Amino acid sequence: MNNQVTFRVFRGEPDADGDPFGQMIDYTVDLDEGMVVLDVIHRIQAEHAPDLSCRWNCKAGKCGSCSAEVNGKPRLMCMTRMEDIMAETPGGEPVLVKPMQAFPLTRDLVTDTSWAYDTDRRIFPINGPEDPDWEFYQEEADRLQEFRSCVECMLCVNTCHVLREHGMFDEFAGPRFFVRLASLEMHPLDTGNRIPHIKDDFGIGYCNITKCCTEVCPAGIKITDNAIIPLKERVVTEFYDPLATIARMLGIKEKLPEPSPRLHFGDANVKVAERALKEERSRAEEARKQERARVERARRR
Ligand code: SF4
Ligand code: SF4
Ligand code: FES
Repeated sequence: MNNQVTFRVFRGEPDADGDPFGQMIDYTVDLDEGMVVLDVIHRIQAEHAPDLSCRWNCKAGKCGSCSAEVNGKPRLMCMTRMEDIMAETPGGEPVLVKPMQAFPLTRDLVTDTSWAYDTDRRIFPINGPEDPDWEFYQEEADRLQEFRSCVECMLCVNTCHVLREHGMFDEFAGPRFFVRLASLEMHPLDTGNRIPHIKDDFGIGYCNITKCCTEVCPAGIKITDNAIIPLKERVVTEFYDPLATIARMLGIKEKLPEPSPRLHFGDANVKVAERALKEERSRAEEARKQERARVERARRR
């Protein structure tokens, strides 16, 4: 491994319109055996740029804070070994480090991920039995354990084209939250039914199972195969399976739950619902317009 490395790091803040405004700046530092990308960023802060902002906490791949795009790929900086980065970077070229591109910029490598907290709050929590004397099989716990290993780094969200390219943050919950929804829906003790919300409010139909989210997940969660596809199957069974509809009509199968007043509009105020939908669509169209303008401005710079 060379004993020096040059990092080309994004430095900047949002402009008056909230769009990222800044430049890529080169920093060259010594490289020691065993370093990870976050170590190099810390060395840059120590030797060249004490005001370079980056978020980190555990340095062990557990807190999900240090997400960034390194050589164009979303990764945790603390879990990305420099020897791998040097092997993939063409000789003489700098290593590119940018903030996650799908989220609004705060400063330098830090982005604002408040959308994630807002989305999390829209998910009904677990609805378990009152009786504390319960049991379930180890296999049922094992299935959930995969979902519980999520470190909330948002790298999957940053990668998903529905959010990154199309900006559908209002309509689509994104891979991280389908993992959370799957962990609740598949919980052996949970009695809630979030399937209507998963279909209508969280927009699972927008996912076209490209698996890009799974490829970048540092926790190794098979997001598409184990969370999204089973949820899609449940939506199909609940809403489109003709046998289930007949069984429901005959009273053999439970009726679909009443939609939540928090997230749905009932028949009585369907006009309100239509107006809200129209506003929602025009907000999405406006967001898409702004995104196109932002890309155009960035291209000209
Ligand atoms: S599989 Fe679905 S959630 Fe994952 S990146 Fe593709 S569209 Fe997004
Ligand atoms: S599912 Fe994986 S990529 Fe997505 S937030 Fe959780 S750990 Fe990060
Ligand atoms: S610093 Fe915690 S995951 Fe990287």
